[in-house]
Amino acid sequence: MKIIMLGAPGAGKGTQAKKIAEKYQIPHISTGDIFRANIKNGTELGKKAKTYMDQGLLVPDELVCDLVVDRLQQEDCKKGYILDGFPRTIPQAESLDAALCEIGASIDYAIDVEVPDENIVSRMGGRRACVGCGATYHLVYAPTKAEGICDSCGAELILRDDDKPETVQKRLDVYHEQTQPLIDFYSQKGVLKEVDGTMDMEDVFTAIIGILGA
Ligand code: AP5
Ligand code: MG
Repeated sequence: MKIIMLGAPGAGKGTQAKKIAEKYQIPHISTGDIFRANIKNGTELGKKAKTYMDQGLLVPDELVCDLVVDRLQQEDCKKGYILDGFPRTIPQAESLDAALCEIGASIDYAIDVEVPDENIVSRMGGRRACVGCGATYHLVYAPTKAEGICDSCGAELILRDDDKPETVQKRLDVYHEQTQPLIDFYSQKGVLKEVDGTMDMEDVFTAIIGILGA
């Protein structure tokens, strides 16, 4: 099963992708997580990506496409995967299509998690990310057992640099301009499925299982 998660920043793509990956035993590939791991490790890619991410801008397509196409060729992707945060532009979607076409494959589902902009800003302000393993929480909607400490690995939680309100607004603008056109792109391919992302996390997941099959 090859799945793409679409949706605005903070719509809950990462939250749902993690649950889907666990249930269907497929790898969860998040380009945002890959970039954050590179930033943490001080790689050249991480240094380049950070300059764009901190401003709420997209990392240029040429830094993203090869990285994802290489990742999809790894052994664990043979039985499918869930892409979270990629593609984010029409050229990225076309490059994914071309890579899949070469092996006679295609995307099965593009799940659009719909959340209005008004809800996004408050969600992002409450999000906390683990500096150790990258797990994501929310002060109100997904709190940790001990305040400020990751449930999975015990490391400290922080507000992501790009979750400050002014950067969130920029990310939303970029989303509407560059990423939203993908909704039409995948609709025309007949694989688009829409879910209401304003529901509780568990209800959103139930709706997604309804689409993918139990
Ligand atoms: P990325 O990490 O992909 O960020 P994003 O798309 O902006 O999305 P987020 O991770 O912020 O949100 P999400 O939808 O995963 O929501 P989450 O589940 O965490 O990318 C970061 C940056 O990297 C980009 O801005 C760009 O610069 C660069 N980048 C990455 N990929 C790229 C690409 N392909 N091309 C170019 N550049 C790229 O949920 C948000 C919060 O809400 C959490 O706290 C969560 O607990 C809570 N929550 C989730 N669901 C619910 C719910 N149903 N109810 C209440 N709260 C909820
Ligand atoms: Mg995410």
